[in-house]
Amino acid sequence: MSNETTLNQPTAEGTRLGELWSILPEESSRIDGETGGELAIGGVSVTALAEQYGTPLHIVDEAGLRRQIRRFIDGLRERWPNSEVLYASKSFPAVGMYQLAHEEGLSIDVAGGGEIKLALAAGVDPARLHFHGNAKTDAELSIALEAGIGTIIVDNFDEIERLERLLTRPQNVLLRVIPGVEAETHASQATGGDKSKFGLPMDQAKVAIERMQAHPLIEFEGVHLHIGSQILNTHQFAQAVENISSTGTFATYDVGGGLGVKYTYTEEAPSVESYLDSIVAAAKAHLPAESKIMIEPGRSVIARAGVTLYRVVSVKRTGEVFVAIDGGLADQMDIALTQQRYEAVLANRIDEPWVESVQLVGRQCESGDLLVDGADFPEARVGDLVLMATTGAYAYTMSNNYNGALKPAIVFVQGGEARLVTRRETYDDLLATHAPALGH
Ligand SMILES: Cc1ncc(COP(=O)(O)O)c(C=O)c1O
Repeated sequence: MSNETTLNQPTAEGTRLGELWSILPEESSRIDGETGGELAIGGVSVTALAEQYGTPLHIVDEAGLRRQIRRFIDGLRERWPNSEVLYASKSFPAVGMYQLAHEEGLSIDVAGGGEIKLALAAGVDPARLHFHGNAKTDAELSIALEAGIGTIIVDNFDEIERLERLLTRPQNVLLRVIPGVEAETHASQATGGDKSKFGLPMDQAKVAIERMQAHPLIEFEGVHLHIGSQILNTHQFAQAVENISSTGTFATYDVGGGLGVKYTYTEEAPSVESYLDSIVAAAKAHLPAESKIMIEPGRSVIARAGVTLYRVVSVKRTGEVFVAIDGGLADQMDIALTQQRYEAVLANRIDEPWVESVQLVGRQCESGDLLVDGADFPEARVGDLVLMATTGAYAYTMSNNYNGALKPAIVFVQGGEARLVTRRETYDDLLATHAPALGH
C-alpha cells in the first residue's frame, strides 16, 4: 500500500509517532485518511474498522500475536528443551483466541468451568488443558474429568478430598505451592507471598504431596507456582524457582506466568528473552536437569497485540478538559482494579501535534471511570476515534454490563483484512437472562 508507513520513525513535524510505536501492536502503521494521517492495525484503518464493526471495539493484531507466541515457545524450547508453554486464557478468553493459541502449539491454562467450555468449543485438545483455581466445585471438577482434562492444579486439601471421591481413572495433577515471594506489583496482582489465598505453604504442601502420591488414581507430576502479574523485575521469577526447589524432586515444575508489559510511553518492561534467561538460569541451578518446565504467560502474550477503539461522544471544558467516549470501566475494569496507567491516542488524526492533556473518561456513573488521567491529544472533537493501547489482556475478559453496557465485539486483523471473532452483545442478550421475570 503506497500511502502506508510504519510507525517506527516519526513521519511528521511536531507529532510523536515514534513514541506511539513503542506501545502499539507490532503491525501498526500510518495511512492517509480523509483529513490527514490515521492509524491502521494489521493494515486496516481505524475508520474502516469503526464503520464496519462499530465502537467500542477490541482489535487484535493477529500477525504480531502469533510472533509473540513463537517467541515464548521457541525461546523456552531453545533454553530448556523439555518444556511446555501454556497460555493463561483468563487474560483474553475469546474462542478465536483459544483457536489461535491451539494452532500455534500452546497448551491452555483454564480457571473455571466456563473457560473449559470455551476452550473445548474452540477445538482445543482436552489433554492440553490445565485446570487452575482455588475453589473448584464438584460440578466444575466433573466437567473437567468428563472432558478428559490433561492436568489439574490442586490448590488445597478440600480439593484433594473431592478428587479422591470423584476420580474413576488416573489423573495427572500438580500442586500449587506458595513460593514465598512478595511480587513487586499492585497488591491485587501479587499471589506468591505468605498470605496468598492461592496454594499451600511449603510445610503443608509436603503433607498434601504424600497424600496424593499414596492415592492409586492420582498421578502426581510435580509442583506449580505463580507469584503474580505485571511483574517487571525478572529476579523475582528466579527467586521463586529457587524457593520451590525445596519442595522435592519431581517430573514437572510449572513456574507460572506474570511477566509484565510496557503500558506507557516512558515505562520499560523486560523482553521475553531476558525473562526466559532468568527463569532458565534459576532452573539450571536448582531444578533436576531431566525435569519438565512449564510457564503460563497471559498478559505478556496478548496485551500489546490488542487495542480498544472508541468514539468521542462529548468534549467538555470545565475544571478539566473531559473527553468522554462511548465505553468506559465496564470494558476496562483492570484500570479501576489495579490503577494501571494506560495511553490513548486520537487515532483518526495522528499527524496532528498533541496540544493538550485531557481526562479521558467513560460513560459509566463513577468518578473512578477515568481511563487515562492526562492523555496527550490534539484538540478532540465529537466523532473522533480514540484508541486505547495495550488493552489485549484483562480488558475484554472483565467486561460487564454495568449501567446496561453491552460487551464489545472483537475483530482480528491481518494483511489488510479484518475478521469478526466475537460479536457485540445486543440488548436482547442483556434481557435474555431475565426471561423468568419476563414470563418467557
Ligand atoms: C495461575 C496463574 N497462571 C498464570 C497467570 C497469568 O498471569 P499473567 O497474565 O500476568 O501472565 C495467572 C494470572 O494471574 C494465574 O493466576
